Amino acid sequence: MDSEFQQITRDILEHPRFLQLREFVHHGEQNSVYDHSVSVAEMAYRLARKMRLSEDETASVVRAALLHDFFGYDWHGERFRRYLRHFSGVQRLARMHAFVHGHIAADRAKTMFGLTDRECEAIARHMFPLAAMPRTRIAWIVTLADKAVASREMTVALGGYMTAFYQKLFAVSA
Ligand SMILES: [Fe+2]
Ligand SMILES: [Fe+2]
Repeated sequence: MDSEFQQITRDILEHPRFLQLREFVHHGEQNSVYDHSVSVAEMAYRLARKMRLSEDETASVVRAALLHDFFGYDWHGERFRRYLRHFSGVQRLARMHAFVHGHIAADRAKTMFGLTDRECEAIARHMFPLAAMPRTRIAWIVTLADKAVASREMTVALGGYMTAFYQKLFAVSA
């Protein structure tokens, strides 16, 4: 990535709260929320360059993409599961990670990095169709970059699980 990307993202990438995302597993055991977020920001940057967006809009796209999953908790962890157990039915569904994390990430991005309302809205809506439909170019780019990167990561994770499964199977039958 070139220096424009680094200039746009440096303050976030060096922040302890963002570095903490390395501790949270995301799409497979080898992929953290940090890895995923950086990949989504890089893809969003490439899309913004291809679409010849202005410097300001490119910066908005990249910062929103980098913070789109800045929810700051381990959604696979026991603590989050315990929290969900306090609720049932529709109440539980409404609090599931897929539905809430965009809004949590948007609030934290605003508080910690002063993202604009437009950038925060892009973050809050990135889970479309599980969230409200994106209505700006920034939001669409973040949403599409996230889907593309997540699909790639989940394919890699699935390949890893299948390899481990077959290795175990052949070890048993050998
Ligand atoms: Fe997300
Ligand atoms: Fe994501």
